[in-house]
Amino acid sequence: MPWTEAPAGAQQWVPPHPQSIDALKQSAADCRGCELHENATQTVFGRGAPHARIVFVGEQPGDVEDRHGLPFVGPAGRLLREAVDDAGIDPADLYITNAVKHFRFEMRGSRRIHQNPGPTHIAACRPWLVAEFSLLNPQMVVILGATAGRALLGSSFRVTRDRGKLMSWPAASEHPEDFPVAEIQALATFHPSAVLRADDRETAYRVLVDDLRTAAAAVA
Ligand code: URA
Ligand code: SF4
Repeated sequence: MPWTEAPAGAQQWVPPHPQSIDALKQSAADCRGCELHENATQTVFGRGAPHARIVFVGEQPGDVEDRHGLPFVGPAGRLLREAVDDAGIDPADLYITNAVKHFRFEMRGSRRIHQNPGPTHIAACRPWLVAEFSLLNPQMVVILGATAGRALLGSSFRVTRDRGKLMSWPAASEHPEDFPVAEIQALATFHPSAVLRADDRETAYRVLVDDLRTAAAAVA
């Protein structure tokens, strides 16, 4: 593929009338909508309650998630589960997924180092996100960090400025027509990995939990 050409995108792998998240997940296993499938181990699809009222969107699977095939099962996932618990959210009310469903990395020696997904990967993978929202029909989306923010709200998203506020989504996004799904509430917050990396981890964690409480209250 010439480098000037955008990747084809996931749309042709998305079944037209999926009956369930499991059916979507099975189709996503074969996705070749962008080049990230070439080096990653497997597609890491979303998981959680089929009638979840709250959907969390992260960035992309990390090293641990890539090997296990499940989102948020590494260190960031551990912190997120703790924060969900501290915010009083019932895990049975959650579905968790990522903006991009293959792990992007570069090799340094024998180590696989995380690389942020680019705008082309986010755009290529969007059909899976749209399909998940269409099936789940949740009340609220919690946007975890900058990549998810750019994926759902657009390139002007800034986590420090835009977090903690209830919004109406897709209306609040730069291109709402990219998300032909029902209007729901949205709230952005720190990515759990950013909390793990923060100089003042305790404060960052408290902000994350407070934001999750705001989200929980909005669906109560
Ligand atoms: N970070 C993410 O954004 N998603 C995961 O699934 C794991 C880590
Ligand atoms: Fe398909 Fe998304 Fe994987 Fe690219 S990252 S191959 S669009 S599932």
